[in-house]
Amino acid sequence: MNKITDQNLILQGKKVLLRVDLNVPMKNRAITETSRIEKILPTIKLLIEKKAKIIILSHIGRPKGKVVSEMSLEPISKKLSQYLNKEVLFNKNKINENTISEINKVSNGSIMMLENIRFNEGEETNDKEFSKKISTLGDIYVNDAFSCSHRAHASIDGITKYLPSYFGLQITEEINALKKITSKIKNPITLIIGGSKISTKIKIIKNLIKKFDNIIIVGGMANTMLKYTGSNIGKSIYEHGCENLIKEILEKSKLYNCQINCPIDVVVAKNLDGPGKNKNIKEVEEDDLILDIGSKTILSIKEIINNSNTVLWNGPAGYFENPNFENGTKKILEIIKEKNTKNKIFSVAGGGETVAAINKFNNLNSFTFVSTAGGAFLEFLEGKTLPGIKALN
Ligand code: 3PG
Repeated sequence: MNKITDQNLILQGKKVLLRVDLNVPMKNRAITETSRIEKILPTIKLLIEKKAKIIILSHIGRPKGKVVSEMSLEPISKKLSQYLNKEVLFNKNKINENTISEINKVSNGSIMMLENIRFNEGEETNDKEFSKKISTLGDIYVNDAFSCSHRAHASIDGITKYLPSYFGLQITEEINALKKITSKIKNPITLIIGGSKISTKIKIIKNLIKKFDNIIIVGGMANTMLKYTGSNIGKSIYEHGCENLIKEILEKSKLYNCQINCPIDVVVAKNLDGPGKNKNIKEVEEDDLILDIGSKTILSIKEIINNSNTVLWNGPAGYFENPNFENGTKKILEIIKEKNTKNKIFSVAGGGETVAAINKFNNLNSFTFVSTAGGAFLEFLEGKTLPGIKALN
């Protein structure tokens, strides 16, 4: 495992391409939660101290190879500059033939952040030519983005074929902590899975069934389950084309004796601003939006958590950013906190939205460990070697 702390690694004057995850929650171009920025500060400070030329690569959102101005990293470069109390040059352009000459102006111990790497077509396809192209921008590559390491993308995977590559401080800490924790956890294990990023996570559930005793499905993912098991979810978000996958999930859960739990009641509204109304699943109307779990569901979750020795959590229970729909997420946190305070549970939470919820309700100390990673955390739990980690090894 090559780390940036390796004694023989000379960083002074080297152009270090540092891949981090600055995919932070934003509203109206303002950052609403900063954990992912704070977590990368130690690596950046180390590189400054060692007088490297720091070139930051990151994505935000899913612009799919197109320039989407709302997904610019510029506001985040300003925030990082405040944290470091140091200038962070921002390179507004997509990567092009001039990028290298702009990077060559960066002096030792200085920082340049490149615009959202996903504005470039070759990033998500892990395109060989694009990987080579970005590798020519630096002398050394450092991955400090554990939360992106489940993506075989050019700035995570492809690039490592063309440059000496190292683990940063943050990714090393997360891998070590998760390895330690997952080797110690005790049954019954409950996984709570929710949030709005449904597409990739729903596939992971199938593979997690054999490891857990209970899987509690909330948030957007629950809508998908409810829809395919015959409930009306009104205008709520869900993932299309999942019939076969859900059938498999349900069959496999019987085979492995894993209890799958979906909401029995929900909080709905006619639009995102509310007000919310608690309804049994059967009462949901065509023009309703499901925005939180209901009170009966919360009670059943409480019972499951109280009978568990381990709880793993990724993805909030509802649209917690709006106080009308925060109750489910808040209550789950309170239940875990109560058990944790009595030292009766092993609890790990992960993911951008989950960390934002934990911070909003001031519950950072309620968990054995909080990871910045969401999808990567779930794939790690699956026991998979993440492409970004495999590439560095
Ligand atoms: C995350 O928020 O989990 C990471 O930034 C990865 O984002 P992605 O799911 O859009 O690849």
